[in-house]
Amino acid sequence: MNVLITGVSSGLGKEVFSLRNSSFAVYGVSRNPLTPHVFSYDSIEALPNPEVLILNAAIGDQGVDFRTFDADGFKEIMDVNLMQPLSYFSTLYRAGKLSDLKQLLIIGSRFSSVPYIQSQEASALPGYGYCISKASLALFVQVLRKEAFPFSINLVHPGVLNTEMGSPEGLNAGDMARKFQSKILDNSFLQEFNGIYELPTDEIIPF
Ligand SMILES: NC(=O)c1ccc[n+]([C@@H]2O[C@H](COP(=O)([O-])OP(=O)(O)OC[C@H]3O[C@@H](n4cnc5c(N)ncnc54)[C@H](OP(=O)(O)O)[C@@H]3O)[C@@H](O)[C@H]2O)c1
Repeated sequence: MNVLITGVSSGLGKEVFSLRNSSFAVYGVSRNPLTPHVFSYDSIEALPNPEVLILNAAIGDQGVDFRTFDADGFKEIMDVNLMQPLSYFSTLYRAGKLSDLKQLLIIGSRFSSVPYIQSQEASALPGYGYCISKASLALFVQVLRKEAFPFSINLVHPGVLNTEMGSPEGLNAGDMARKFQSKILDNSFLQEFNGIYELPTDEIIPF
C-alpha cells in the first residue's frame, strides 16, 4: 500500500513515516526533504501515486483573546492548516496523481468540532486560528463528500500527543502512529464516518 503523508520532520508525521515497510510504503512530503522517500511540495511528477493520502502538516497557536488579535499570525495559520492542504490536494488531483486513491485522511482535531468548541471554556481553547482552520476542515470534508469521489474522505483527531504541538503528558505519538497504521491497513477508513474519528478511543466526535 502506497501512503503519502505531509509534514514528516516531527511529531505524528515523522512517526508514521518511520513505519515504512514493504506492505506500508510511506512517502513523505516536507518543506525539508532531506531523507530518501521524502519529497518537496513542488516535486509532483516524481511522486508515486498514493492509495492513501494523509494531509497532516499543521501549526498551532495559543489563547483566545480578541483584544490582542494578530492578523498576520491568523493569516499564517489559516494558510498552513487550511489553504495549503486544500491546494496540495487539488494540485495532486489535477496532475493525475490520485487515480489510485482509496482513502483521503485529513488530520483534524477535537477543535474541528463546533459542538466540542461550544462545550469548552475560552481558557481551554487554542487560538482563533487553530479553532477556525481545523473547524473549516470539517466543513471541507462535508462539502467534498458531496462530489462523490471514488475514494473515502475522513477527518481524524489523533488525540493529544506528546509532540511539540501537543503536551508532554500527551499520548505517545509512536503508539498512535502504529494504531493509525493498523486502521489504514485494515481498511477501517474506507467507511466515511459522520463526524471526526478520534483515534485513541475509536469514537466519533460530531462535526
Ligand atoms: N499534537 C497534538 O496534541 C495534536 C492534537 C490534535 C490534532 N493534532 C494534529 O495532528 C497533526 C500533527 O501534529 P503534530 O503534533 O505531529 O505536529 P508537529 O510535531 O508540530 O508536526 C507538524 C508538521 O507540520 C509541518 N509544518 C510545520 N510548520 C509548517 C509550516 N509553516 N508550513 C508547512 N508545514 C509545516 C512540519 O513538517 P515538515 O517540516 O516536514 O514540513 C511538521 O513536522 C496536525 O495536523 C495537528 O493539528 C495534533
